[in-house]
Amino acid sequence: MTTEIERTGDPIADPGLAPHQYRPQDVDGNQERRTERQIAGMFGVATLLLIGFCVAYFTIDSDVRVFAFGDPNSGDAFGGWSAQNFTFGTTLGGALLLIGIGIIQWAKKLMGDHEMVEMRHPARSSDEDRSAVMADINAGVQESGIGRRPLIRNSLLGAVGAMGLPAIVMLRDLGPLPHSQDETVWKKGMRVVNDVSGAPIKPADLEVGQLVNAEPAIFFETDDEGHPVIHGHDLLAAKAKAAVIVVRMRPEDITPKKGRENWGVEGILCYSKICTHVGCPISLWEQQTHHLLCPCHQSTFDLADNGKVIFGPAYRPLPQLPLAVDGEGYLVAVSDFPEIVAPSYPELARDQEKLNEKFGGEA
Ligand code: FES
Repeated sequence: MTTEIERTGDPIADPGLAPHQYRPQDVDGNQERRTERQIAGMFGVATLLLIGFCVAYFTIDSDVRVFAFGDPNSGDAFGGWSAQNFTFGTTLGGALLLIGIGIIQWAKKLMGDHEMVEMRHPARSSDEDRSAVMADINAGVQESGIGRRPLIRNSLLGAVGAMGLPAIVMLRDLGPLPHSQDETVWKKGMRVVNDVSGAPIKPADLEVGQLVNAEPAIFFETDDEGHPVIHGHDLLAAKAKAAVIVVRMRPEDITPKKGRENWGVEGILCYSKICTHVGCPISLWEQQTHHLLCPCHQSTFDLADNGKVIFGPAYRPLPQLPLAVDGEGYLVAVSDFPEIVAPSYPELARDQEKLNEKFGGEA
């Protein structure tokens, strides 16, 4: 008996192609135009969502939370999500989804719909095949209708172009602008408190050689309703500039420069905790030498000599906060820092000049 393979030479008979099914868009002009508008609509909504992303970046406070428990304005709220992140996710995710769906719909419903049979052949294509492929690609570009359908093409270009907007506005998050570093929350009469307990500090609380990490009292203050005066992002930003160290040395070891003779109390001096190199927090204290060492790149400051740099890449002294005691004998600031508390940056000299004007002379 003759088998199918012996008879035809093929293990399975070629079933051939089923009759071609035309899509509604191929045979109905109204349906084609409706589909075109739907796709353009998706790209249009994607563009609006990307613009919404940018608007949310500038209008939604980073502390606001959604689906959180407690009073969202008090700083005591917990759980939930950041409203800004929630909006970023929904707008950017929605835009990407709509652009993806629009492109798939365009390819499935409007681009050329020809069935093709491709026979197996040697791995390397012949020159003729290569030319044919290029011809096919060019034909595909023609059939995609990119030239004939300016509505879809332009709306897609608009949506893809708008994807660059979130990337541009988020450059702002690379760091605070340098001029925003000029001031801290310290001001005249504000108590210096322990950064963990919030307890105000009296000179008698410190022994000679001791270093205490401290903060301005406002970080621990609450309003009439018991809510923190500063909270959330504002608190973190303020802490990053206002953190200080308080050290006690023998008064005879200190050599204050001119104008700073009364910036300390009984040998107690207060310096910024922010390294002037690139801003690491510092508190590695060598009490015998009065040196403060930054753990990041080993800049070393002499606290008995006005925070002068004696080693390392920092080239500005550590800013010093003038101290006094209030009526109850607690340490308080005499003013804000007369120097800029920040890593060094190119416009610093200009900004320091402005600060000098405010404090009436060079600090
Ligand atoms: S940050 Fe302090 S030495 Fe570099």
